[in-house]
Amino acid sequence: NTKTSAEDLLMNYKGMLYPRVLCNVDMFQALETFDAREDDLLIATYPKNGTNWMIQILHEMVSLVHNREILLDTQWIEFGNPEMLARFKDRPSPRILATHLNFKNVPRSIFEKKVKILLLVRNPKDTAVSFYNFHNNLDSLPSYNTWDSFFKDFTNGKVVFGQYFDFFATWEKHFNNKTMMAITYEEMKMDYPTALKKISEFFQLLLTEEQINLVASRTSFNSMKDKSENTHGKLGDSFFRKGDIGDWKNYFTEDQSKEVDALFEKYLADTKLGKMLNY
Ligand code: A3P
Repeated sequence: NTKTSAEDLLMNYKGMLYPRVLCNVDMFQALETFDAREDDLLIATYPKNGTNWMIQILHEMVSLVHNREILLDTQWIEFGNPEMLARFKDRPSPRILATHLNFKNVPRSIFEKKVKILLLVRNPKDTAVSFYNFHNNLDSLPSYNTWDSFFKDFTNGKVVFGQYFDFFATWEKHFNNKTMMAITYEEMKMDYPTALKKISEFFQLLLTEEQINLVASRTSFNSMKDKSENTHGKLGDSFFRKGDIGDWKNYFTEDQSKEVDALFEKYLADTKLGKMLNY
């Protein structure tokens, strides 16, 4: 294993792990006074739930509705440094923001300004497999010699941005039907045009049928994978791996599957988000 140790790659801030390459204490402190705008659009996801897919969708939609160039530079709330955050103030509305932060760490002005939040949710088992591969493909995250060792850290929440179940259970608890909408990775895969219509209506980015089809073709897995060198540089292959439902069956043992089922039962089964996952 030639990679740097977990300790060197991860930082702990207020009990949560974050990737050092993207996060730092100065930025977290600056976020305490982050000024949201009423017309900001926020995507909230746990890692590997399809964040980059949703970011691209919103960029395409905003560019069609507002007739402007697609700016795919930093839109992450918690990544970067205070100078980058300051430059955010010059961005034209609507700004597209994304976050992997737990609800309790999201800058309060997001809620005070009633920013619309789209929560994107993916089946925990496919999320774990995607996350495992991501760790082993990225120099900036610790690598794992075995799937079993990653599985332990995933279920115990010893990964960046904490435990999957805690992330969604906390967002779920504060779910507000007026300003928030949840959508699943799986429903997007199964009926893409309907999912795109839902997203555009929620954010009031109203598009014609033809424009919806255009967004669909520009954000298909293959189209995004083909463009990934432009959008994500050499990390492209790591972000657009398989894009499928059910890869977990190639990794999970029966016991591991049962363990995740039990966690799901404990944290999510009776909740709105849990029911949406059709688990
Ligand atoms: P896999 O590793 O299972 O392939 P994130 O952007 O939050 O890091 O999520 C990455 C996951 O979303 C990866 O899952 C990736 O392939 C998948 N993904 C990215 N773009 C997609 C698209 N257009 N359609 C379907 N899945 C996509």
